[in-house]
Amino acid sequence: MDISSILQGGYQHPLSRSWQGRRQLTKSMFMYPIFITDDPDASVIIPTLPGQRRWGVNQLEGFLGPLVQKGLQSVILFGVPLTCEKDARGTPADDPSGPVILAIRKLRALFPSLYIACDVCLCEYTSHGHCGLLHTDGTINTEPSVQRIAEVAVNYALAGAHCVAPSDMMDGRIKAIKRGLIDSGLGNRCTLMSYSAKFASALYGPFRDAAGSAPSFGNRKCYQLPPAARGLARRAIQRDTAEGADIIMVKPALPYLDILADAAQLAPDHPLACYQVSGEFAMVHAGAAAGVYDLKTMAFETTESMVRAGATLILSYFTPDFLDWLEV
Ligand code: PBG
Ligand code: ZN
Repeated sequence: MDISSILQGGYQHPLSRSWQGRRQLTKSMFMYPIFITDDPDASVIIPTLPGQRRWGVNQLEGFLGPLVQKGLQSVILFGVPLTCEKDARGTPADDPSGPVILAIRKLRALFPSLYIACDVCLCEYTSHGHCGLLHTDGTINTEPSVQRIAEVAVNYALAGAHCVAPSDMMDGRIKAIKRGLIDSGLGNRCTLMSYSAKFASALYGPFRDAAGSAPSFGNRKCYQLPPAARGLARRAIQRDTAEGADIIMVKPALPYLDILADAAQLAPDHPLACYQVSGEFAMVHAGAAAGVYDLKTMAFETTESMVRAGATLILSYFTPDFLDWLEV
């Protein structure tokens, strides 16, 4: 046997195995997506998302307190209004007495060290369920969409969000949000995380159930990227870094690790996020329940692959599990 043929000597011990990754998973890499609904006492199981619920603001202390104790450092909030009056411009999105703004204020007061990000989109709040405003023929009306999304983002930031994260995919919204934050005096106080490369994926199904945000007609293919579109994803990443994004995100994560690796190369000076979306989470659970693999082993394998591809931040419904599984 040639000297250079022997690799196994380098990874025979658990510790030397851990040195083989350039970076390790840590608790601080995980951001936990949370659904906040408008019934303040709600704690409602979401059947397609194992272990996840829709929460009312009065439940947040009891639900998140133990997780913060275990080392939870960041959350991303999604509003799930069930009783509000939805309209064409998504007016309830930044209602001062709506679930998101109430939750931001509550969480800032309850958990001073918790980092609070807010998803910014209109689909949960529009009567048509699309992520922007529409022309009368049903196509996206870009200019007012971008203005409205920037307005919502600024209102979340004014309420105390540490980070606003637009998931709408309207062209030009990063620049408009950054401008809005600067003009409101929040340019240096609020992070702008762009869902830059967000693909039109079949993996959002459980989320749309949970958030009640499926479009009432058509689909999202005119704003979310085609799965084969590596070039468009690269252009979107470059555009959003140029427009002032502080963090770049790729979504979904596991089927798009090549895009994540592209982002790591195109935006090497930015933190890089990926979203292990609802369908990915449900898929890992379903496979484990079917006896295909062990849940924890697969949760590690999927998220470690994201870190290997370049992620510095992972949005995942597995966050509470990793707080139990990881030491630091
Ligand atoms: C809405 C939004 C979606 C997700 C995050 N924000 C769904 C969609 O675009 O249809 C998906 C998250 C998940 O599946 O976990 N703009
Ligand atoms: Zn949306």
